[in-house]
Amino acid sequence: MPPTVAEILREHAEHEAERTSPLMQGLLLGAAEDWDAGGISSVVLEPYADDPPGSALPLRFAAALHRLVLTGQAPELAAHYPTVGGTDAPDLAWAPARRVLEQETARVRELTGLPCQTNEVGRTVPLLVGLAEVVRRTGGPVRLLEIGASAGLGLLFDRFRFGEAWGPRDSPCRLPAPGFVTDIPDLRITERAGCDLAPLDPADAEARLRLSSSIWGDQVDRFRRLRGALEVAASLHVPVERAGAAEWLARQLAVHPEGQAAVTVVWHSIVRAYVDADEWQQVEELTARPDVWRLSYEPDPGANPRGVPLRLHRPGTDPAGDVLAYGTGHGPPLSAP
Ligand SMILES: C[S@@+](CC[C@H](N)C(=O)[O-])C[C@H]1O[C@@H](n2cnc3c(N)ncnc32)[C@H](O)[C@@H]1O
Repeated sequence: MPPTVAEILREHAEHEAERTSPLMQGLLLGAAEDWDAGGISSVVLEPYADDPPGSALPLRFAAALHRLVLTGQAPELAAHYPTVGGTDAPDLAWAPARRVLEQETARVRELTGLPCQTNEVGRTVPLLVGLAEVVRRTGGPVRLLEIGASAGLGLLFDRFRFGEAWGPRDSPCRLPAPGFVTDIPDLRITERAGCDLAPLDPADAEARLRLSSSIWGDQVDRFRRLRGALEVAASLHVPVERAGAAEWLARQLAVHPEGQAAVTVVWHSIVRAYVDADEWQQVEELTARPDVWRLSYEPDPGANPRGVPLRLHRPGTDPAGDVLAYGTGHGPPLSAP
């Protein structure tokens, strides 16, 4: 029997949100109970009852509510959202959320239909560790290619400030330092480009709202980082082409930019689970070339208690790679392997 909507919401509340977001936990558990009782949640979420498990229904539902908060359409609920300065207890957000569902039933239902689209710039913290290691071994400079780049914000990493360790001091995007890595060499990027099946343009107000809504309403650090990265993106445009990873990589790697002695690095974070096995096989084959380094920030199959590994795949066939660090789904904090 496939899980019910209530079971999907509870599963997410208990396994994803429990330690990291009292707001999400309260909303999802409240909605699950309400679904079981045949309340307004069942009217809002009923069209999605048969959605496939990978379609992130709890995240889409939470993003729909957060969007109404961010656009000023749910002031009573907003009081529980630290991302808009709310100071009421985040874990008590369900009662006002239920009233929003009652008043804005069709709107929340429609917004819950939007796909979940994130671009987590915190993942540049582990990726920076990997890129620094490539430069330490090769001397750089780097031609940086990202597959599954979303809005391309990760490709702006050298405009972000990482604690007191690295990056421009006046950057509006402030991230924690990688921690255990003390020496980060100068990284010079000669070219940066990305692809995504569904790219978002950071210059587009709707795209910015989609990205902002997808962050949980009590994760203020993540929200500020995103805002900072969007500010950086306003002054530096990085092309993200609408294309599948393998097809785009094949085209990119067939070209050798003239007059540049750059090291090609392909990086990706939290993309693999979305790409079908044949296409991923092609990605691995394409990047197993003698002139390509690959940095992978992807969860291992099954739960790894150490977290998400950052793997450095040296040029040539190196499918396992070296683990350089472990992090969380959103990047920091990192730990040494
Ligand atoms: C969870 S998001 C991660 C985005 C970004 N890498 C980050 O860490 O913030 C996964 C991204 O992979 C993209 N994607 C899924 N399948 C893809 C494919 N076959 N080729 C390229 N991008 C793909 C999705 O559109 C989405 O933007």
